[in-house]
Amino acid sequence: MFINVVVALCFVLNVVKSETFPSLLTTNATIAIVIDKEYLPTEYDEIKSKIEEYLVYAKREILRHGGVNVQFYAWTAINVKRDLTAILSITSCAKTWALFKASETENLLHMAISEQDCARLPQNEAITIPIIDKGQETPQMLLDLRTIGVYKWKKMIIIYDNKVSDDMITRIIRSVTKQANRIGASGISLMKLFSSSSLSIEEIRSNFKEKLSTIDPKTVGGNFLVIVSFEFVEIIMEYAKELKLVDTLNQWLYVISDTTNKITGLMRFKRLLKEGDNVAFIYNNTISKKSCKGGMMCHIEEILAGFTKSLDSAIVDEFETAAQVSEEEWEAIRPTKQDRKNDLLEKMKKYLTDYGVCDNCTTWKFETGETWGREYLDSIRSEHSIAEILQVGSWRPSDGPTMSDELFPHISHGFRGKTLPVVSFHNPPWQILKVNESGDVIEYSGIVFDIMRELSKNLNFTFNVEIVKSHFQYNVTRYNPKNETTAFLDVIESSGISTYTVPQEILELVHNKSVAMGACAFTVTEENKKLINFTSPISIQFYTFLVARPRELSRALLFISPFTGGTWLCLAATIISMGPILYCIHKYSPVYEYKGIRGKGGLATIQNCIWYMYGALLQQGGMHLPYADSARILIGSWWLVVLVIGTSYCGNLVAFLTFPKIDIPITTIDELIQHVDTLTWSYGKNTFLEAQLQVTKDKTYRIIYEHSKDVTDKRNMINLIKAGKHVHIDWKIKLQYIMKQQFQESDTCDLALGADEFFDEQIALIVSPDTPYLNKINTEIKKLHQVGLIQKWLEDYLPKKDKCWKKKRSVEVNNHTVNLDDMQGSFFILALGFLLSFIVIFTEKLWWKKVTNKENNSEVQPFTT
Ligand SMILES: *[C@@H]1O[C@H](CO)[C@@H](O)[C@H](O)[C@H]1NC(C)=O
Ligand SMILES: *[C@@H]1O[C@H](CO)[C@@H](O)[C@H](O)[C@H]1NC(C)=O
Ligand SMILES: *[C@@H]1O[C@H](CO)[C@@H](O)[C@H](O)[C@H]1NC(C)=O
Ligand SMILES: *[C@@H]1O[C@H](CO)[C@@H](O)[C@H](O)[C@H]1NC(C)=O
Ligand SMILES: *[C@@H]1O[C@H](CO)[C@@H](O)[C@H](O)[C@H]1NC(C)=O
Ligand SMILES: *[C@@H]1O[C@H](CO)[C@@H](O)[C@H](O)[C@H]1NC(C)=O
Ligand SMILES: *[C@@H]1O[C@H](CO)[C@@H](O)[C@H](O)[C@H]1NC(C)=O
Ligand SMILES: *[C@@H]1O[C@H](CO)[C@@H](O)[C@H](O)[C@H]1NC(C)=O
Ligand SMILES: *[C@@H]1O[C@H](CO)[C@@H](O)[C@H](O)[C@H]1NC(C)=O
Repeated sequence: MFINVVVALCFVLNVVKSETFPSLLTTNATIAIVIDKEYLPTEYDEIKSKIEEYLVYAKREILRHGGVNVQFYAWTAINVKRDLTAILSITSCAKTWALFKASETENLLHMAISEQDCARLPQNEAITIPIIDKGQETPQMLLDLRTIGVYKWKKMIIIYDNKVSDDMITRIIRSVTKQANRIGASGISLMKLFSSSSLSIEEIRSNFKEKLSTIDPKTVGGNFLVIVSFEFVEIIMEYAKELKLVDTLNQWLYVISDTTNKITGLMRFKRLLKEGDNVAFIYNNTISKKSCKGGMMCHIEEILAGFTKSLDSAIVDEFETAAQVSEEEWEAIRPTKQDRKNDLLEKMKKYLTDYGVCDNCTTWKFETGETWGREYLDSIRSEHSIAEILQVGSWRPSDGPTMSDELFPHISHGFRGKTLPVVSFHNPPWQILKVNESGDVIEYSGIVFDIMRELSKNLNFTFNVEIVKSHFQYNVTRYNPKNETTAFLDVIESSGISTYTVPQEILELVHNKSVAMGACAFTVTEENKKLINFTSPISIQFYTFLVARPRELSRALLFISPFTGGTWLCLAATIISMGPILYCIHKYSPVYEYKGIRGKGGLATIQNCIWYMYGALLQQGGMHLPYADSARILIGSWWLVVLVIGTSYCGNLVAFLTFPKIDIPITTIDELIQHVDTLTWSYGKNTFLEAQLQVTKDKTYRIIYEHSKDVTDKRNMINLIKAGKHVHIDWKIKLQYIMKQQFQESDTCDLALGADEFFDEQIALIVSPDTPYLNKINTEIKKLHQVGLIQKWLEDYLPKKDKCWKKKRSVEVNNHTVNLDDMQGSFFILALGFLLSFIVIFTEKLWWKKVTNKENNSEVQPFTT
């Protein structure tokens, strides 16, 4: 038991100890120096003794406030112990990485001196110094840039000239394809440009042009790494532009190695940079001077100097902090191993940046063209070249690339927050401008501005709206998006507004590039395409027509609807003709004579026979059945007929009760044309439809065009439509607005839309004809379509659904209970029966009176005359 506790205690203490590494106040830091004997078989002893010598100096001169323990190793497979603070390794690239991986969990400060073309250890965890041969730094630099993700190219085409040796190009390819820092390998295409001093400049130019024209970015990708002499850069830039290889998506990185520090920048390339280009330059800024130092020993000493200096300063820091607080507090706040490592790393980096002299003559500079959106800056427009060249970073062998900005700023940040001028005008629901009392626009909304805001967010620009007063301008203050009523009333009132006839001034402004784009919805037309370019459509509007809503037919005559008129006629004829036939058969049958029972009543008269037949039809039977079999057979077959007729009538009647009968609506354009004699129609004036109808060859549309009739007064027109005499053809959404207004005014749904949709009208934004950003904008619009945002915005501005939107024309199909409407016909019949019987009784009375009068007269007359 006791032993268990002790073991547990020791274990806990051990854990605590390993996590809270001893403070520098009590324990000296330990550095492991690994000099790989396999990597440096000949220089090993010399280097080791030099290091020892330097350490003696460093401990004495630099590390004044503490000490450091040094452990030497001649191999890399060392067992990394907990109490190590730092490790300095001098070995091959692969072993450096292996050692780093092995010690990764121990929070060591790793300082590595390695060979060239070696991917650096993560910059925030270690210091790596590749020892690079003079004039061979290109592969290392490209590798470094790739490792830190300055360019993330999956595919690239390397264009190089014959100054680049085969060995060098192999190393470059290895650097840009090596799997490093989770950035996958790239696909590479190579293109060698040939030049020689024996060729004239014209020959070189035509050579280059021919070569470059074979590039197809679709297959090789749009990323170009150009490693050529300074003198050829301009030629390549010219042809690349001419061959349309430079645009908003393609990236060009020029690596120019034969510049010297005498070239202070690459300003001469400015004129070749155009709006929308992505071009960056890396150039050699190396100074060759006698005083320039370099080599492995120089770096080792510099690193050791940096380390001891940083350690010294860390010790001083800890002393100062510890002196200010109590011992308990110090235990709580003293740096962990991780903190100390970060602190040391930071200090060392600063030291190397500030005081590093080894290979500091070798520097390369990064510059990039800032081009996007500059064409529209007022201050730039007058100048000869629009682009600006920005310094974005530099590279040194000892600390690698130092970036102050992106190498391809527009690829990562789009327009970089530039303000672009756009032009617009009031045209709801596409563009809605809200003004305050003094007439200043205070709010932009509408579908187009919703899209513009999304574009500006994704492409990183802001926009400045220029307003063009259109002749459609009207009181815009009324618009209040919260109030649906007023929102769409606006649109109805302005139904003269279309996207087809638009202010010419806007086209001009976009065409002459006074503005970056037109933030207004335009109909895509061929003649406008001559002036400007359209983006991909933001919406497609269809035309349809507005007709009177089909009404339910009256149900008064429901009871006759199971049979057609012809059937009813036949039925009547049958009853009437069956009576006499029965009478004849009954009369001529000798059976009655034989039996001696021929009476006077019963079927002895034609009327009675007809009444009998009628009674049998209604399944009422009759008093008198004929005695003779001949007549009975006839009646029997009549009963069968009655059965069939009766059953079909009842069945049909039920069906008609359940499914109300509706007017036959006009739903298609062909049906509309069939009604050319009874209907008139009109379509929106100054619309795309009108223009299309004027030129169309289609027979149907010719008829629409030729037989159209204008109704100028809108109110009148709607009344005509309601009455079913007129049809109006326009955009579906405009008709929806009219329907909504009609519904709100009268609270009835008298209008309906045709089912046919025809003549799609594409609506797009406009940009100037040669803008490089069209494909960028189109991509964004496509994304907006894909996520359904444009559709949603459009619906936001459309009238909300109400009961008139019901597509179904047969309503109340289910659970129809029979009501008076359905029954009224039978009551009419009853009333008719009353009426008829009154008439008959009246005539009977009259007749009787006349007869008795005559009798009286004939009786009296002899006495009077
Ligand atoms: C720490 O280093 C100093 C100077 O090198 C030395 O005098 C001292 O004995 C060392 N302390 C320990 C605990 O190793
Ligand atoms: C960079 O310039 C220096 C000095 O002009 C030159 O010695 C060195 O070879 C150049 N580097 C490359 C990679 O060409
Ligand atoms: C190299 O370092 C020395 C010493 O810090 C400094 O004087 C010199 O200007 C540096 N050279 C370059 C090219 O940075
Ligand atoms: C927009 O550009 C600015 C300036 O370059 C940049 O700081 C910012 O991060 C960019 N925003 C986006 C979303 O890319
Ligand atoms: C209208 O808006 C403009 C710009 O915001 C402002 O200068 C002006 O004072 C406003 N007018 C009124 C009457 O609010
Ligand atoms: C605009 O509408 C407001 C409110 O309905 C009204 O007061 C104002 O006079 C109108 N302005 C014009 C120019 O019609
Ligand atoms: C919307 O505007 C109409 C007409 O101006 C007004 O009668 C109604 O009260 C408003 N509705 C709301 C919710 O503001
Ligand atoms: C572009 O056209 C507009 C409208 O016609 C005009 O005011 C402007 O001065 C023109 N700008 C240029 C640069 O031609
Ligand atoms: C822009 O318009 C021009 C001229 O109408 C046309 O030649 C060109 O192909 C259009 N550009 C795009 C990207 O559609």
